[in-house]
Amino acid sequence: MNILVTGGLGFIGSHTVIELVKNAHEVIIVDSLVNSKIEVLDRLHEITGVKPTFYQIDVTDEAKVEEIFLTHKIDGVIHFAGLKAVGESVSKPIAYYYNNLVSTMVLSKMCLKHGIGKFVFSSSATVYGDQPSPLKEEMALQKTTNPYGETKAISERILTDVSQANDGFAVSLLRYFNPVGAHESGLIGEDPNGIPNNLMPFVTKVAKGKLTRLSVFGNDYETADGTGVRDYIHVMDLAEGHVKAIENLSKGVNVYNLGTGTGVSVLELVNAFMKVNNVDVPYEIVGRRPGDIAICFADPEKAEQELGWKATRSVEDMVRDAWKFEVDNS
Ligand code: NAD
Ligand code: WQD
Repeated sequence: MNILVTGGLGFIGSHTVIELVKNAHEVIIVDSLVNSKIEVLDRLHEITGVKPTFYQIDVTDEAKVEEIFLTHKIDGVIHFAGLKAVGESVSKPIAYYYNNLVSTMVLSKMCLKHGIGKFVFSSSATVYGDQPSPLKEEMALQKTTNPYGETKAISERILTDVSQANDGFAVSLLRYFNPVGAHESGLIGEDPNGIPNNLMPFVTKVAKGKLTRLSVFGNDYETADGTGVRDYIHVMDLAEGHVKAIENLSKGVNVYNLGTGTGVSVLELVNAFMKVNNVDVPYEIVGRRPGDIAICFADPEKAEQELGWKATRSVEDMVRDAWKFEVDNS
């Protein structure tokens, strides 16, 4: 297939491009570079042997997006492009609602106009709110605690309505849990601007000595060691999930959790990182971070049954590959 990948130079998009190329798909990447670097394109070339077609375009710009739909024969769209910093979304709600919703509307509108019937969307486990894990796709969505999360819930609704109104428009809503790690080559990985918000990139920077110590946000949750529990998933497993999702897309709206099904605490992750990589990560326990929940992990059964996809990489693989990327690129 010829697949348009929005946000294809970002963390998850770039890893997915590798898997798409590996599975003989042609990839057209669009990315505004608002949160990524052009060097990633060369790295993708180095890893895959193919230099993907690339356009530096903001996908909220309908006229520019339409030019791409007119230039290329596109079979499907995987829409990663979005702003994703939870805290920033609280201080800049308009930027988040505008970027994340207008992009989804422009792309789905162009798909309808140009007869493209396959759309895969990056959603998030955050749409479940605070409900007991394991989280299942059929659970009712809950209001999230921040505008970023709302953009995911609203995008899911927009795409559901568009699909219900248009028979030939099939959608896959992929709810990611906590993507971490990097491609095993160490050439691409998670490279956030400034001080990372997420746990794994913060840990790699502390281990490297670029940040003094990790703050562990709370050890008084109702979990085995008191720290928050999440479903960390290797980004290459997630990338493989996207290939399965677009290749096996059924009619209508399809919702899938992409997680491992296993909860791992903050301290378990940090200890695994230190042990596997033989490096120290100084940390201190501080108060809870507002908006955090105690436990969040997936029931990944549906994706296995319907897509034939299952995460196979371990926590050890995740911490090893995240560290290799940090070491090789600093
Ligand atoms: P990322 O920031 O690394 O990648 C997003 C890419 O989209 C960036 O390259 C950015 O430059 C680009 N982009 C943003 N707005 C754009 C626009 N209007 N036009 C064109 N390009 C634009 O983020 P990521 O971690 O790779 O996340 C990809 C998607 O998955 C996002 O939609 C994110 O919300 C979602 N998601 C991420 C996580 C996570 O923890 N990383 C979890 C759940 C869902
Ligand atoms: C993981 C755990 C923290 C940083 C976020 C978004 C979610 C999704 C994934 C996009 C928690 C703890 C963290 C630190 C810590 N993104 N932590 N010290 O909050 O589960 O999910 O990213 O869709 O929508 O909300 O991920 O990596 O920030 O935190 O102790 O410096 O690590 O409290 O328990 P989170 P995270």
